Amino acid sequence: MANIRIHDKQFKPFISADEIRKKVTDLAGALNKDYEGKNPVFIAILNGSFIFAADLFKALTIDAEISFIKLLSYKGMKSSGQIITYIGLDTELFSRHVVIIEDIVDTGKTLNEFLPQLEHQQPASLKIVSLLHKRDAAMFPIKVDYVGFEIPDKFVVGYGLDYNGLGRNTASIYQLLE
Ligand code: IMP
Repeated sequence: MANIRIHDKQFKPFISADEIRKKVTDLAGALNKDYEGKNPVFIAILNGSFIFAADLFKALTIDAEISFIKLLSYKGMKSSGQIITYIGLDTELFSRHVVIIEDIVDTGKTLNEFLPQLEHQQPASLKIVSLLHKRDAAMFPIKVDYVGFEIPDKFVVGYGLDYNGLGRNTASIYQLLE
């Protein structure tokens, strides 16, 4: 496979479509086993996770629901930091088994700020499945329960992940060429 160019940067092939397919099948297998009879609610975080979420959800054989949310960050009136909120959740989470679907967990900041808002609804359980995890970049105490690939702390695109809006529409994942 050849390198690709997005905006001003070059990316090299990193994880093939075939490897992704196999990993998605493995992750779905684990979820099918762990959530049998629990009718879990999957919550996919847009935009990045849309392709992974679709492939993962297709590979589930158990009864399961899915909802798509978008995170919004804004400056709080008094806080100097960013506050993260979400839109689009159309399901009550109280006493439900909830699984967050992420494309990538990098520093863990996003989930660290967002998860307490879901915990507030008192789900029966709350777990995370992420296709990619940059463990070395972790700055916040987020436990990713189901990890597809542990990857180095380098920028990646493809299979839903973007670089400034472009690069989401590839079947494989590419890594920044330095
Ligand atoms: P975190 O809050 O640092 O864990 O970052 C989470 C979000 O940053 C992900 O959901 C992605 O949208 C974005 N992100 C982090 N690393 C990458 C990358 O290598 N490529 C594309 N997007 C990334």
